[in-house]
Amino acid sequence: MATGEPQLGRMLYAPEAIAARVAEIAAELNHRFAGRSAVVVAVLKGATVFLADLLRRLTFPVSVDFVRIASYGSGRRPGEIRFVKDVELPLEGRDVIVVDDIVDTGGTLARLRQALEGHHPASVTTVALLRRAPKRRLPPNLDLVGFELESDEFVAGYGIDCAERFRELGAIHAVAQE
Ligand code: IMP
Ligand code: MG
Repeated sequence: MATGEPQLGRMLYAPEAIAARVAEIAAELNHRFAGRSAVVVAVLKGATVFLADLLRRLTFPVSVDFVRIASYGSGRRPGEIRFVKDVELPLEGRDVIVVDDIVDTGGTLARLRQALEGHHPASVTTVALLRRAPKRRLPPNLDLVGFELESDEFVAGYGIDCAERFRELGAIHAVAQE
């Protein structure tokens, strides 16, 4: 039945499974960054719920900043990115941890990494909750990933939206867009 509204499909990742995986990612970051500090740069808006859960499990000192990236059509050249909101904290010489929601082609993350490298950070570590495996075209360029999404389905929930819907859900679901 086509209503024009996105329809929530089956649950792919339950809140408990997400929480367990977020704890594992945090443990890995705590290991890698023990005795150091970092600037966590989260990508608005989809990474906010993941960020909130991840942050509270970190045991090394972090500062938090946000970027918001304009989405382009497919014709853009690699390397181009437009920030609706750029970072505000100085990144020079800092260890930077990028937190994103879902990596599809990897294009956004690759361009974001390139833009952040321009600030001359000491390092850039990239973390995404989901990576869509079948459509991956560019090199992964991703250091830590929560779940490999072995499907082409659009997903939403746990901060991730479909047409600005479903961010408030605790689970991640498949979404039918019509
Ligand atoms: P990429 O540049 O192709 O890797 O696109 C990544 C961006 O596309 C993500 O940060 C999301 O904003 C969006 N995206 C890709 N797949 C989905 C999805 O299934 N649900 C919601 N957003 C998605
Ligand atoms: Mg995004």
